[in-house]
Amino acid sequence: MCGLIGYIGNRPAQPILIDCLRRLEYRGYDSCGLALLGDGIQVYKDQGKVAELQRGLSLTNERTGIGHTRWATHGRPSGINAHPHLDCAGQIALVHNGIVTNFLRLRQQLTQEGHIFSSETDTEVIVHLIEKYYRGDLAEAVAAALGQIEGSYAIIALQTGPKKLVVARNESPLLIGLGDGENFAASDAAAILDYTDRVVYLEDGDIGVITEREITIANNGHEVSRQVQQVPWTQEEAQKTGYEHFMLKEIHEQPRVIQNTLRGHLSSMEPVAPEITANGDIAQILLLGCGTSYHAALVGKYLLEKLAKVAVRAELASEFNYHDTLLGKTWAIGITQSGETADTLMALRKAKSLGCKTLVITNVVGSSATRIADEAFYIKAGPEISVAATKSFIAQLVAFYLLALAWARIDTSSRERLMAELRLLPNKVQQLLDGQDDIAELGEYLSRYDSAFFIGRGINLPVALEGALKMKEISYIHAEGCAAGELKHGSFALLNPHTPVVAIGAQDNTYDTLLTNIKEIKTRGTPVIALAAEGDREIDKLVDHVIWIPGTTPLLSPVVNSVALQLLAYYAARKRGYPIDQPRNLAKSVTVE
Ligand code: F6R
Repeated sequence: MCGLIGYIGNRPAQPILIDCLRRLEYRGYDSCGLALLGDGIQVYKDQGKVAELQRGLSLTNERTGIGHTRWATHGRPSGINAHPHLDCAGQIALVHNGIVTNFLRLRQQLTQEGHIFSSETDTEVIVHLIEKYYRGDLAEAVAAALGQIEGSYAIIALQTGPKKLVVARNESPLLIGLGDGENFAASDAAAILDYTDRVVYLEDGDIGVITEREITIANNGHEVSRQVQQVPWTQEEAQKTGYEHFMLKEIHEQPRVIQNTLRGHLSSMEPVAPEITANGDIAQILLLGCGTSYHAALVGKYLLEKLAKVAVRAELASEFNYHDTLLGKTWAIGITQSGETADTLMALRKAKSLGCKTLVITNVVGSSATRIADEAFYIKAGPEISVAATKSFIAQLVAFYLLALAWARIDTSSRERLMAELRLLPNKVQQLLDGQDDIAELGEYLSRYDSAFFIGRGINLPVALEGALKMKEISYIHAEGCAAGELKHGSFALLNPHTPVVAIGAQDNTYDTLLTNIKEIKTRGTPVIALAAEGDREIDKLVDHVIWIPGTTPLLSPVVNSVALQLLAYYAARKRGYPIDQPRNLAKSVTVE
């Protein structure tokens, strides 16, 4: 949720920290701050965005510092609650991502011992504990303090005196970036891509000491060595490159993302899958995800059941933690773009504890989910900076097509037909993007309304759910995704001329019934926008507006339909003038339950 950065080297730290904080802002953006180490520690922090913090700074020359962008959990967004936090003596500074679950008890205890707290945060107990245990060695004090902490954390600490950073992680992401005569610590590789692409991912329980020339890592008191890895992303991928928003850029990257994900796994005529198969004695596949990734799971369920003929259960990761029964031998698949979503990590751990083999479909090499799961299937979406997931969702869908094809129990010609259509997908999406002006107009039209429904059937029901999520997330229009057949079981009470319905059509066995549903809706005087395959001669007679979708086989229609709905949401939000890449109250990568 929160973004962390640390720098130690031979250049002025402040501009580097500010630059990295800007890139981390998508992880949380209600307040931010930095601490610079000179003769003493200077802290600058405030409510608001990094740009506002930067305006209040004049260039300084310190070569070591830490920074933080916050998504508030304990204590409202404010200058006082912003990180870094200091100990009583002002000699240790700390930034933290995670949740200290036993902070109230620790705070009471520390207060009784004379520590004075200035913020409402859980984080502040960590820095006071470090102060309490400090006997001349920061790393030892950090280890002792963390021994008292229950919960999750990634921290970066510095102290007055010798120039070094001390870092530690438990269930929150943290990596060390290796430079030339300088080193970094960051919650996220995308933050430091301008400076280095060589990183070391920390493991749970690691405590590291970073100087400008050296890093040492210990776990459980023993020195450990961790592999240096190359981040598979380019600097350009993490920049807007002329687009008004990251979201629009990322929507436009999708033909390439589909190609990259296919290329990684679909060689010649045979798709390559990870080393698992759904054959043999597998009783069911369990799909676990949150938000947009859960919607990808719902499409995946449909595909795997249809093509691999295996029973599939899709669960919201946050709810799976309340279930205890699985039917027979189960493969669990976690779907998580970031690989850091707390609920999904917990659900994966629970699936393992219930005896499941586990696979994660993720975009981030070295992410926490890849350490929990037995296997990883990497989508090739590149860094996704906009908080609203777009290209990662499409790449997740492509992953499911590939897995379903790898495990398919269908005849060879059906498989080859589907693979051929899959290869055409980048072109279909490009065609849709080339004609985006009509969708932009309809997005602007929708921006006038306060409420909307998105309906679909079959494999396009999850697309309706995702379309509604995207719309509400960035345009703040209340939008509800609903099975087309369910609408009349209650939600019909809300239909009126001021509540448009977006209906997702596909040329499959849902088509005729969807048309009937549209007629029922129109009878209530409700405006309808339909997504329809080019060449459809029926639907435009019934509805107010049509978004024409380049034709593809119905099984692949979720991809093109979803891109259309991303654009619809984007242009509605743009017309409303909202901060599209950083919608209010949200953050990328939700690392708390
Ligand atoms: C919505 C969105 C979220 C994420 C959800 C899971 O646009 O981005 O709903 O999909 O927080 O995130 P990951 O995929 O990182 O687990």
